[in-house]
Amino acid sequence: MFLFFIFVCFLAACVEPQELSPENIFLLGGQSNMAGRGGVPKVNGHWNKKVPTESSPNPSILQLSLHKTWVVAHEPLHEEIDKYKTCGVGPGMPFAHEVLAKDPNFGVIGLVPCAIGGTKITDWAKGSSTGHYKQLVERANASLKSGGKIKALLWYQGESDTQQQTDARFYKRRLKRLFTNIRADLNSPNLQIIQVALASGYNNTLKEIVRAAQLGIDLPDLQTVDAKGLPLEQDHLHLSTAAQVQVGKMLANAFLQFPNCSGLR
Ligand SMILES: *[C@@H]1O[C@H](CO)[C@@H](O)[C@H](O)[C@H]1NC(C)=O
Ligand SMILES: *[C@@H]1O[C@H](CO)[C@@H](O)[C@H](O)[C@H]1NC(C)=O
Ligand SMILES: *[C@@H]1O[C@H](CO)[C@@H](O)[C@H](O)[C@H]1NC(C)=O
Repeated sequence: MFLFFIFVCFLAACVEPQELSPENIFLLGGQSNMAGRGGVPKVNGHWNKKVPTESSPNPSILQLSLHKTWVVAHEPLHEEIDKYKTCGVGPGMPFAHEVLAKDPNFGVIGLVPCAIGGTKITDWAKGSSTGHYKQLVERANASLKSGGKIKALLWYQGESDTQQQTDARFYKRRLKRLFTNIRADLNSPNLQIIQVALASGYNNTLKEIVRAAQLGIDLPDLQTVDAKGLPLEQDHLHLSTAAQVQVGKMLANAFLQFPNCSGLR
């Protein structure tokens, strides 16, 4: 009888949707290296399914699903969102692990995957027919429904803007406009933004122009971490799993250095 009771409780726990909700929400935007290709040796090859401990599931790390519900986060974090590409390990999970390791009282983290592989900055412009901007704002909005606060936007994009000279030349002003629009549409003028400066690109000259734009952008409450020199997959475009773990840690340490993100919540 007692065992039966336990069994029923167990069933109920499984069937009843758990009310998961995060305290600290992070938006993840950009292209493939934010979506994660670690362990995918060539574009749209097979993911090797190797998940490092820094990216393993943890009950204190949630993700907003495609249908905008909170679930325990797991790699590939962007599988449902960047659905036309093979996703692997990205920076989001190691970012969350590192924040929790450095600040164990931080509270439950909610990651909002929004990155889409192969996108140029113009594909992210407000009003673009791709709908990527709209989706990011809608998912950010939905992420707040169960409480919690958006703490930062993590952004890693620009490789696709190293193919044509005009894209590289206009990158800085387009990026600035994008960040300004996101802050305005989220009613969060001081939204902290941490972006990653490119490790890779299609054309070296143009990559350096995009990197200069990223490293030189003048916006308040914005930090840039640099992925230059980190190991790449065989495609020479995508960060390896080990590199993604490093980027995640760099993003976390940058976040924790913001004057009022950690201590003064
Ligand atoms: C944000 O969510 C609220 C409901 O939670 C909804 O009424 C509103 O239209 C949403 N706005 C956007 C831009 O999605
Ligand atoms: C890279 O871009 C520059 C500037 O557009 C161009 O002059 C150069 O030929 C390109 N390099 C390659 C290898 O395509
Ligand atoms: C950080 O502090 C400044 C000044 O007190 C405030 O305006 C801003 O909203 C804060 N940012 C966050 C993300 O709390």
